[in-house]
Amino acid sequence: MRRFSFLSLFFLLRLLLLWIISASGEEGFCGFPPSSLLEGSGTSTKPLYWKVTNPTLSPSHLQDLPGFTRSVYRRDHAVITPESHVFGPLPDWDNTLGAYLVSPAMGSHFTMYLARMQEGSRSAVPAQDVERFVFVVQGSTTFLNASGTSHKLHVDSYAYVPANSEHSFKCDETATLVVIERRYAVLKNHYPEQILGSTDKQPLLETPGEVFQLRKLLPTSASYDFNIHIMDFQPGEYLNVKEVHYNQHGLLLLQGQGIYRLGDSWYPVQAGDAIWMAPFVPQWYAALGKTRSRYLLYKDVNRDPLWHVKF
Ligand SMILES: *[C@@H]1O[C@H](CO)[C@@H](O)[C@H](O)[C@H]1NC(C)=O
Repeated sequence: MRRFSFLSLFFLLRLLLLWIISASGEEGFCGFPPSSLLEGSGTSTKPLYWKVTNPTLSPSHLQDLPGFTRSVYRRDHAVITPESHVFGPLPDWDNTLGAYLVSPAMGSHFTMYLARMQEGSRSAVPAQDVERFVFVVQGSTTFLNASGTSHKLHVDSYAYVPANSEHSFKCDETATLVVIERRYAVLKNHYPEQILGSTDKQPLLETPGEVFQLRKLLPTSASYDFNIHIMDFQPGEYLNVKEVHYNQHGLLLLQGQGIYRLGDSWYPVQAGDAIWMAPFVPQWYAALGKTRSRYLLYKDVNRDPLWHVKF
């Protein structure tokens, strides 16, 4: 009896397998329907109900959902994602549209914005006593200063211009810049200088206790009241320190995907997302996805936290 049921089970399994093989021949490989059931022809060869099995859950599609945004604005942090960018003319710039991602209205002491320069565009100078940092994320731009020096900046290169220095950025074609500006925190007998550079020319710095790769785009000397860090994480790498500190941050994720923790919230983020971090907001990053994460990070440094407090 026992022997019989084993044999018949084996036989039944064989039958089942044969049936699956013949059925898949009729219905297309692995359950995909044969082409006769596909909608239309040419470009729209999608099955009638293909959205059921291909929901818009992949990050590249989320922004197409009506009314959906990953952007968040809280008292001590903000995540500003591309589907919520609003571009408008930048005051006094020619042929340039800008989108402010971080501004003092949020509580920051700096602005961070994207500037989309068109053909024949030209920047304006920042307000009195305001210093400027520019990083090229797309295209190229020509930097000109008061000495008549011109310098072409390509993707991944940058310029720092001290406050009240005559200069302009010009574009013959198009460029997208991320611009960071703040009122310079004067320190007696210290004078920052114009800096032109590119990320790949900056040395990797020690990061004790951490695994990410760090480059700093500005000198660390006391003349500079902020720095810009370029931080690289391989997928699976994360910050060891769950940082809480007096400094503010503006962040632009340049490459990759991951999870950013801000306060008690955990945000899936991807290249193109910007983050504002107020002083003392708990912050932590883990790189996920399949490629390197790289972000650009503004950090105020070298000044006593009391520097701007009026007694
Ligand atoms: C203009 O740029 C050149 C090249 O970097 C530099 O040597 C010069 O000092 C700059 N001039 C001013 C006024 O900053």
